[in-house]
Amino acid sequence: MPTRDPARLVVLVSGSGTNLQALLDASADPSYGARVVAVGADRDGIEGLTRADRAGVPTFVREVAQFSSREHWDRALTDTVAAFEPDVVVLAGFMKLVGEEFLGRFGGRVVNTHPALCPSFPGTNGPADALAYGVKVTGATLFVVDDGIDTGPIVAQVVVPVEEADDVETLHERIKSAERAMLVENVGRLAREGFTITDRKVRFGSD
Ligand code: GAR
Repeated sequence: MPTRDPARLVVLVSGSGTNLQALLDASADPSYGARVVAVGADRDGIEGLTRADRAGVPTFVREVAQFSSREHWDRALTDTVAAFEPDVVVLAGFMKLVGEEFLGRFGGRVVNTHPALCPSFPGTNGPADALAYGVKVTGATLFVVDDGIDTGPIVAQVVVPVEEADDVETLHERIKSAERAMLVENVGRLAREGFTITDRKVRFGSD
């Protein structure tokens, strides 16, 4: 999939937004090949939105509770994101599943970063689930979103060790530090090189 130069990124967040910050910092360099044109959230008052404000990037909030149904929320989110004409939509700690309308409009160019090695430990508690299971390594996965929960074609993964003294917080922080570097590197490549997906295999470059 070819993109414009620089590629237009819309980033969706639900929390502290350190992954968003890494993208904002990277895209300050024109050679990165992508820039964040808008940041959206499913809740107000979060650090992720403050980071976008500080960077002078437009923000929007679409809370599920503001709408009469999940479908209406999904449509509103889709329309708002579409108005920013993204080449790639990045879910960076966005704790909601996007719906049919959203994937119908942007499918194949929505990527999500998950704090576990997919297909292990999907959902919202990746670090806690990995710790409870007793795995010795875990990590983060960047994937192209499909209609499952953390099931889409994998763009990149990074491995981190689980230390004996870890609690969920220390483990998640170690994951996030590796995750940010992986996200920045691979979103940049997606933007600069384009990508194809064949039989779940994501490859950089055009055909
Ligand atoms: C990240 O570790 C991201 O992978 C995770 O939330 C964190 C957000 O951190 N996302 C999920 O768990 C989605 N299932 P951040 O707000 O500091 O970027």
